[in-house]
Order: sequence, then structure tokens, then C-alpha cells
Amino acid sequence: MRILIKHVLQREAPCDDLHVAGWIRTRRDAKAFSFIELNDGTCLGNLQIVADAAIPGYEAIAKMSTGASVEVRGKLIPSPAAGQRWEMRAASLKLLGEAPDDYPLQKKGHSAEFLRSIAHLRPRTNLYGAVFRMRSRLAYAVHRFFQERDFIYVHTPIITASDCEGAGEMFRVTTLPDNRISQDAGDFFGKRAFLTVSGQLEGETFACALSNIYTFGPTFRAENSNTSRHAAEFWMIEPEVAFCDLAGDMDLAESLVKYLVNDALENHEGDLAIFEKFVDKGLRERLEFVASRPFERISYTDAVTLLEGSGRTFDYQVAYGLNLQSEHERWLTEEHCRKPVTVFNYPKEIKPFYMRLNDDDKTVTAMDVLVPGIGEIVGGSQREERLDVLLGNFAKHGLNPDAYAWYADLRKFGSVPHAGFGMGFERMLMFVTGMANIRDVIPFARTPGNCEF
Ligand code: 4AD
Ligand code: MG
Repeated sequence: MRILIKHVLQREAPCDDLHVAGWIRTRRDAKAFSFIELNDGTCLGNLQIVADAAIPGYEAIAKMSTGASVEVRGKLIPSPAAGQRWEMRAASLKLLGEAPDDYPLQKKGHSAEFLRSIAHLRPRTNLYGAVFRMRSRLAYAVHRFFQERDFIYVHTPIITASDCEGAGEMFRVTTLPDNRISQDAGDFFGKRAFLTVSGQLEGETFACALSNIYTFGPTFRAENSNTSRHAAEFWMIEPEVAFCDLAGDMDLAESLVKYLVNDALENHEGDLAIFEKFVDKGLRERLEFVASRPFERISYTDAVTLLEGSGRTFDYQVAYGLNLQSEHERWLTEEHCRKPVTVFNYPKEIKPFYMRLNDDDKTVTAMDVLVPGIGEIVGGSQREERLDVLLGNFAKHGLNPDAYAWYADLRKFGSVPHAGFGMGFERMLMFVTGMANIRDVIPFARTPGNCEF
């Protein structure tokens, strides 16, 4: 039976009949034998294979070049070489697929931009292998966090007719022919439909029935912002908790961030080391710092005062009533607090219809978690649970109350205080890997002007 190289490298004892397979990273030939560094993507480390010229399959050795795939049978023995515990003495080799000279990953040290253009091959590099293993583990940790706390996983629809964030940045879904695209009649759903920008509204319906729920799925935004932190398709984690207020919501977000940071620190078979080596020297130290201290909490009003008094000139204006831009958020978390900070209670005018109005009648219970190096990683709020206030918000935000009647029903029948948030999964991954561009933590990035693969 084939054994994953990850398990081979972790073995405690030698083994007489080992069977492995993978892609060749490098090959070095001596007079009567060859050394092959084999990697199967299950871990960062390679298995060194020593292949004697007399073994079956060796006749194809010239074609076993970098990138070629091979199957190897033989013995695992303690390695006499420094820096590795085991090596494999091959008894037979089998070339599965050769990799001709134009294999793009022959040499090391390609730029991130070039590797994006070969996103179908980049998981074969050390760095991107580590990124995507981390992505998988972190997704698993998200489920563990919520399942351990009795949250129920809800699958909210990807196609929807409602614009949760009210920002109108939606991709339309239609089956109409080009010449009838501006009409709604005759379209598949009989009305305009879009790809979801958030599962929150549907998530709320389940929280108002099952108490603690979360969603974790793809999300789409047609915002034309070509930044290193925005993608048109990204994954979002959205918990929603009944009988919960803003303070409880901020606590939950902080615990989730810390849980995922700890998971990244504890579980990654050497992958963190490669991020430290190639991406971010102080990564481990920063993650340990974040995991071990409470986040700062600052109201929006105080944040504006701090920014105004910072003595800094920003590209975008700072004033009460204006949105915080990413340069402002980064100043707060990177320079002022020097740790993650949760900003809460934003002016109602700059926030969506569903956020709960505070007693001051000016602010709503919004909160954003900002982290160094990235800015906003989580955005959430307590929800408006009072029917009359919610109906007033529909009018103020120009929403058709008939289209949201189902949402208002949650307030009509057994309304409860409830709160939730959305965490950008790629932003969290950027945070724990140090990768600077969202395009490099998602397998196939969709950004303005780019839908390859
Ligand atoms: O702050 P946002 O827009 O909040 C919502 O969508 C709420 N409905 C969530 C909720 O309360 N259930 O988005 C939440 C998070 C952001 O903090 C950010 O991390 C991420 O989603 N995000 C993006 N990530 C990548 N690319 C984009 N274009 C993103 N837009 C938001
Ligand atoms: Mg936000």
C-alpha cells in the first residue's frame, strides 16, 4: 500500500517494504546510482531516495527530471546524511509521467506574479503547498471551533434576490438572452437574482430557531477594488447567535481569531517555518503576541478623535460620519494600539439597515475587528430586533418591505436580541501565513479583469 511521504518522514522505525509516489523536486546522478528528492505535497519535507543503477526502472532515469511523477518501492533506512532522519533505498522505480524541459518550475525563486499566471502548477512549490495545506487545516479548525461550542452549520443559498449589505455590488445571475438582459420578465426565477454577498439574512432565520448557527461558504462582490485584500469571490464565515448582544458578539469574534491563530501555531508540520523564512520573519512572534493578549476595544467616536489627534496626514479625510479607510484602520491597529483592535458603535448613516440602533439615536451596534498588516478581518453587529425600527430602516434605506417581509417576520414572531459577524477567510489566512496578497491564499483568484482557470 502506498504511504504518504508525511507519514514516512514521521516514522519511528525503519521499514522493509515501502511504497511511495510523488513528483521529483531534484535529481542528482553519481556513477552507479542517483539521488532523488521526492515530494507528494502532503508535507513540506522531501523524501530522499537512493536508486542504484541496477534496479528495475532505472533505465528511464534520464526522463526522471524535475516535475516528473514516479512511483518507488524499497526500504526505509536511517539516513547517514546530516539533516534528515530517513532515506529510502529504492528496489524499483516506475516513471508515471515525464516533465519535459518546458516545465515552468525547474528553477526556484519565481515571483508571486509569475506563479499566479501558472496557478494550476503553483501548489507544487514549497511555499504554495504550505499555503494550501494551511487553508485546509484552518477550514477544519473553523468547523471545530463552532462544533465544539454547539453551533449548527447552516448552508445558506448562493443565489439570492436580496442585497444584504445594501451596497449594490452584486453579480447578476440570469438565463436571459443578450438582447433581453434589461428585462426581468421571462428570466429563470421570474425576478432579478444575484450571487450572494453574505449569508447573514438567511443565517438570522436559523439563529432565530436553532440559537447558535454559522455559515461557511463562498461569497461574491462585484466591487471594483483592485487591492491586495479584495477578491470578487471569497469565503466568509458567518456565525449568528440568538440572545446575544454586541459585547457577546465582540467576545465571540475575538475568541475565533485567537483559536485560529493558536491552531496555526500548533499544527502545521513545518509549514509555519517556510512562511517565516520566505514571507514574514516575525510571523510566529506576532501570532503568539496576538493569541496571548486581549484585543483593544475602541468606539468609532474615540477612534476618530485618536485619528484626528494623530498628527498624521492621511490620503482620505478623517471626520465623524465618514467611513474609516484602510489607512486609518491600519494606523489604529499597527501604530496606535500595536495589536488587534475592535472598533464599535459606528454612525447609523454609514452602515446597513439591519444593525441595531443605539439609545443615542446616532450610532448602531456595528463592530469591526482590525488586525496589523491587514486591517479589517471581521465585520459584524447586533441586529435590529424591534419590528417598528426595522420597518423604518427599510424606508430610510430605500428597500422594498415586501421583498424583506420574511426577514421582518423574525421580529414579528418571537423576536429576540441576536448578533453575528462575518470573517473573511482569506484575510484570516493572510494573517496567519503573512502572505501579502489575497490572490496568493485562494486557489484560483477572481479579481476585476481576471477569471483564468
Ligand atoms: O464587513 P462585511 O461586508 O460584513 C458582512 O457581509 C456582514 N453581512 C457579515 C455579518 O455580519 N454576518 O464582510 C465581512 C468580512 C470583512 O470583514 C472581510 O474580512 C471580508 O468579509 N470581506 C472580503 N474579503 C475578501 N474580499 C472582499 N471583497 C471582501 N469583502 C469583505
Ligand atoms: Mg465591513
